[in-house]
Amino acid sequence: MSLPNKAPDKNNMWAEAQAQPNIALIKYWGKRDVEQNLPAAGSLSVTLDSLWTKMSVEFSDALRGDELVVNAASNEKMLPRISACLDRVAGADRPRASIESEGNFPIAAGLASSASAFAALVVAASNAAGKNRDTLPLARIAGAASGSAARSLFGGFVELQVGDTNIEVATIAEAGDWPLTVVIAVTEEGAKPVSSSEAMNRSAASSPFYSSWLEQQPADLKSARDAVLRKDFSQLAAVAEHNCLKMHSVMWGSRPPVVYWNSATLTCMEAVRRLQDDGHAVFFTIDAGPQLKAICLPDEAGLVRSALDACTGVVRTMVSGLGAGARLLDNK
Ligand code: DP6
Repeated sequence: MSLPNKAPDKNNMWAEAQAQPNIALIKYWGKRDVEQNLPAAGSLSVTLDSLWTKMSVEFSDALRGDELVVNAASNEKMLPRISACLDRVAGADRPRASIESEGNFPIAAGLASSASAFAALVVAASNAAGKNRDTLPLARIAGAASGSAARSLFGGFVELQVGDTNIEVATIAEAGDWPLTVVIAVTEEGAKPVSSSEAMNRSAASSPFYSSWLEQQPADLKSARDAVLRKDFSQLAAVAEHNCLKMHSVMWGSRPPVVYWNSATLTCMEAVRRLQDDGHAVFFTIDAGPQLKAICLPDEAGLVRSALDACTGVVRTMVSGLGAGARLLDNK
């Protein structure tokens, strides 16, 4: 399915791009600079292939204001963040923009929809504005809108490092180098009650575990990076689960606490534990939402999916391999 091709009667200031969400194995949780949206520590993720967001951007002086349509419905709520991101791509004096977005998975439910949305947006907008930018500058612009979005500009295994004033992001191993499978157990389709931005700021301001969380990030990152480069599944599993549970401990220790899990999330964790006890190569991670993501070797995917489908409270499961970074769709 593709967005209607609006190009023929328009000037050249139109482009469409696609990006996939990414799942962090070493999490971004906390900001060094809220204004710049600079993360407090590095992170490491895998970019998916079968979940996607497509974004088209058309700049036009004929528009009275920016307009956003998400999955065929006008959306005012996300518009300010989108408009601010377009200002960074094309300059605050840019023409007004009409943006259309379409995706094949739930929005704002802890499935990294903002990551794929902003990654696709910067690629489409930069092209529509006639600016040819490399991937890293685009990733920085996307990251200023949503920290995790910077990683969706790149495919495969992606590491984000934080410098004094900016981020560095790059693929450390291609999707094809180590083709893992991600099985997502959706336990609730609705939007999350607390945004990740707000929850992060609450964690930084009030969680007694926040500073140790940040102190340990470099060691966790190194362990995960080494595991990816050596394709050591059990090392990656151990550090990723540890990192995920620490992030949620930081949230649980915040005031007021932030608890994204529901009972089905825990049921899914137990199911993964049982598979591990039986010797299967699988581990879990959970983001700012109640969905559980199980990462496994491809030949374990069928078994992992059946085990998660059988968990009480699982609404549905989705399966994805690892995929490419954000890219322009050449359908002008
Ligand atoms: C738990 O990238 O959504 O998914 O920069 O405030 O938009 P903002 O946060 P966002 O946070 C992602 C949090 C996470 C962990 C991760 O993806 O690394």
